[in-house]
Amino acid sequence: MVIPKKNQLIGIDIGSHSIKIVEIEHKKKEKVLKNIGIAYLPPLAVSPSGIKDPEAVKTAISNLFQNLKIKNKKVATGLSASSIITKKISLVESEELNLEEVIKEEAERFIPFDMDEIYLDYDIMDTIYEENEEIARLEIIVVASKKDLVDSYVKILKEIDLVPSIVDVDIFAMQNAFELSNPDVDMEKIYLLVDIGSSTINTNAVKGNISLFIRSSQTGGISITKKIMKEFQIGFEEAEKIKFGIIELEGDQEKKVKDIFRDTVKEWVDEIKGNIHFIHNSYPGEEIEKIFITGGSTNILNIEKFFEKELEIPVERLDPFSGLAIDKNIDPSYLDSIKAQSTVAIGLGLRNIADK
Ligand SMILES: Nc1ncnc2c1ncn2[C@@H]1O[C@H](COP(=O)(O)OP(=O)(O)OP(=O)(O)O)[C@@H](O)[C@H]1O
Ligand SMILES: [Mg+2]
Repeated sequence: MVIPKKNQLIGIDIGSHSIKIVEIEHKKKEKVLKNIGIAYLPPLAVSPSGIKDPEAVKTAISNLFQNLKIKNKKVATGLSASSIITKKISLVESEELNLEEVIKEEAERFIPFDMDEIYLDYDIMDTIYEENEEIARLEIIVVASKKDLVDSYVKILKEIDLVPSIVDVDIFAMQNAFELSNPDVDMEKIYLLVDIGSSTINTNAVKGNISLFIRSSQTGGISITKKIMKEFQIGFEEAEKIKFGIIELEGDQEKKVKDIFRDTVKEWVDEIKGNIHFIHNSYPGEEIEKIFITGGSTNILNIEKFFEKELEIPVERLDPFSGLAIDKNIDPSYLDSIKAQSTVAIGLGLRNIADK
């Protein structure tokens, strides 16, 4: 599908560790990555529950737009999956079915907030015809987000003269990026997408274009940084340098850091195992074909091998750039170094106004 230029959006992923910006040009035959950049944030500027330091976020985004010389002001951004509530519902299709009304009634039952305080959105994921039946069942995912949270994102972006057109959710943006980068997967099989960022691990089990299960848990790379800070009584920046191997340690200290890595990654494995267990119980007889990992914390050396051994399922690093043509001005080695962090931003940058 050709997407007119006026409908194209800049993807902005406001993560708790950094902000990523992506510009994708939708051409007739291909999608071209025109621009990409990351700006690191001060600790605590953004948390999964929202933006805590709007000025830091505004400065980071404005600088990225300026440095990358991005002219398009229309943007798609995403909330953290941990700040939304989702529920799957199944409805029998009929002429009398007033979808909006039924969804609102259903939502009132599972959402612990006043309906006036939330935005409701839904997507029909599947239409199922039971054998020999003419009646169709609609599988619907309902997404509820707090109005004040969405409005705060919109307000911040408007304050720097941007035009927020879509507020998506990071866990669905990851799925969007996966679909573009892995068009050859078996549509009948389950794939697990796992984003290990700074303060969240997002898991999305997909089959075809349908999300079967999502879970967001509040752990990630920050746990390692915090443990290093505590162990050595040092600040955030220094702890990150130790974590990245920029400051090298020896002997006992090196061993302590290795133990922190091992213990934390083991906790992540347990988290993923729990999710796999849940999926197996919900979809008996179906196996998970492969796990695709992404997010900055999957830069940890050999993490995919460790996961594979522990989870006994093939593990692959997701390459969000593989379905895109790359503009010649983007340095390939830079692109490679930010691959793991870029998936959500790519998923957002693929959205367009007509998607709404
Ligand atoms: N080479 C590396 N080794 C270890 N950790 C790394 C490496 N590179 C990045 N990280 C970690 O990855 C995390 C950032 O990843 P990412 O950019 O995906 O997070 P985020 O999207 O900002 O956060 P979140 O989605 O959790 O709000 C940080 O904890 C960072 O320390
Ligand atoms: Mg993230």
